[in-house]
Amino acid sequence: MTTAILSALAEEQQGLLDLLQRPQCVTRAGREFWLGELHGQPVVLALSRIGKVAAATTATTLIEAFGARRLVFTGVAGGVGPGVQVGDVVVATEFVQHDMDASPIFPRYQIPLYGRERFACDEALLALLSGASRTGLIRLKAEFHAKPGVVHQGLIASGDRFVSAAEEARALHQALSEAGHPPLAVEMEGAAVAQVCHDYGLPFAAVRTISDRADDTAHVDFPKFVTEVASRYALAIIDEFVRRLPAR
Ligand code: ADE
Repeated sequence: MTTAILSALAEEQQGLLDLLQRPQCVTRAGREFWLGELHGQPVVLALSRIGKVAAATTATTLIEAFGARRLVFTGVAGGVGPGVQVGDVVVATEFVQHDMDASPIFPRYQIPLYGRERFACDEALLALLSGASRTGLIRLKAEFHAKPGVVHQGLIASGDRFVSAAEEARALHQALSEAGHPPLAVEMEGAAVAQVCHDYGLPFAAVRTISDRADDTAHVDFPKFVTEVASRYALAIIDEFVRRLPAR
């Protein structure tokens, strides 16, 4: 069974490319897809690209052109939930689109014609990813000589916007919470991939390393964090995750 591993950032994907056995690069839809094996598992690696539409195209191509039968996504996110700090990790249980608003025709946050606001991640896959995240972070602890981040599980909100103002992050968190969808983190792609996987009936799971607090310093924290920390987190987590997948 082919597992798709989506990375939000090139820095995150590089470590996986270095490990990929029998690599073969195929271009489709203006994107590069890397086929090969990781720990004996058939995989296809891709960069999601940025934003919901780009990520949906990548996910659809992974499924339609490369036969992906489960999708796993790594990336970074801004922490907006209480106690979700830079260096922590959030394993998604569900996704909501914080910029979906077809009101008053449909309720705020509801995806028109789906009758729902959230798409859930696959329980078995997210349990595997949580375990892999905990072990991956402990493995990195020695390397960083630091306390490992906390692994949270919960709702992630996606939208086509880099949230980089404390007031905006607070308002976004409050509005979603009042509607019954309190998010732990914000990013720009996960909900789109979750929706595509829902459409195809395929299991999906996602993990995001918290790179910033979606506040006025978010843009400063972001690039430094990606190169120094997030890429190593993603590699450690996915390496551990693939080892735990059932034999092919
Ligand atoms: N990804 C990482 N940080 C983010 C933020 N603050 N807003 C949106 N996406 C992000």
